[in-house]
Amino acid sequence: MKQYYVKDLKADDSHHLEDRFLVRNTDIRDGNNNKKHLYLTLADATGEIQAVKWSLTPDEVTRFSKIKTGMVITVGGRCNEYMGKKQLVLDAIIGQAKEGTYDRADIFKAAPEKTSDMYDYIISRIEAFEDEDFKKLCLSFYEENKERLLYYPAAMSNHHAEYGGLLYHVKRMMMMGERACEVYTNLNKDLLLAGVALHDIEKLNELNSDQNGVVEDYTLEGKMLGHLVMGVAIIGERCKELGIDDEKCIMMQHMSLSHHYEPEFGSPKKPLFPEAEMLHYLDMTDAKMFDCEQALDNVEPGEFSDRVYTLDNRKLYKRTF
Ligand SMILES: [Fe+2]
Ligand SMILES: [Fe+2]
Repeated sequence: MKQYYVKDLKADDSHHLEDRFLVRNTDIRDGNNNKKHLYLTLADATGEIQAVKWSLTPDEVTRFSKIKTGMVITVGGRCNEYMGKKQLVLDAIIGQAKEGTYDRADIFKAAPEKTSDMYDYIISRIEAFEDEDFKKLCLSFYEENKERLLYYPAAMSNHHAEYGGLLYHVKRMMMMGERACEVYTNLNKDLLLAGVALHDIEKLNELNSDQNGVVEDYTLEGKMLGHLVMGVAIIGERCKELGIDDEKCIMMQHMSLSHHYEPEFGSPKKPLFPEAEMLHYLDMTDAKMFDCEQALDNVEPGEFSDRVYTLDNRKLYKRTF
């Protein structure tokens, strides 16, 4: 059983703790005292914390270079404060924790809903499309990739970097998209929801995730092309196979290509029709709301969060009522 959850750790040098954590990131770097130091991002289901082991011996450098993202390790150390943030200063890295010696739900952050329920919800919305082309196009991707969709995160470290995060992101965007179509009646619902269903589908091939939803790295394609351009390619191929006409195909490709809106975020074209414009706002809204929720998760009412990098380094306030 876990005794020390990240959310409960207090910057209290006097208390020694020992427990299991997930490695989200690992790096051995040179310090200015001619020694090497180990920097880890450790996590559990309740949050993340930076950890450091100072002044490694040559033996430790060899041993600790085998630590990889996605491993669950047992560490000992003390929690203190560094530059306004909590930090674990480690005195021992006891080793990899054996599977079965911890509860997966304690260690791995997961979307709050059962992934098979979210999958079924998305499929039911797709099956309700009147447009047979968009229906068969979306179903072909979801049915073919069901196994991976059930655990894939939507990111390596930003929004929805958690087990089932990709489905959670798409599901909430679909819910918002349906409401948006009630207000903005010029929107074609099937086109918008098909765009929602497929806009991030190539994250499955952009990110290299293990079955716990932890991403060690981007794939080669992911680094070189990214999910927007990869989406254009696979949607084009699939539309040809399914005999979908050029206009619908190009509009779906455009929704993949333009959903990040700005060239500096990967979109060479801005949205050129209302459903593509709306898709971008649904995407942004869900990502920002996720970041807000996460930032306030471990904050006491009446207090401010740490600075949130993805929210322009703002500190968010948690209401008391
Ligand atoms: Fe995206
Ligand atoms: Fe997205």
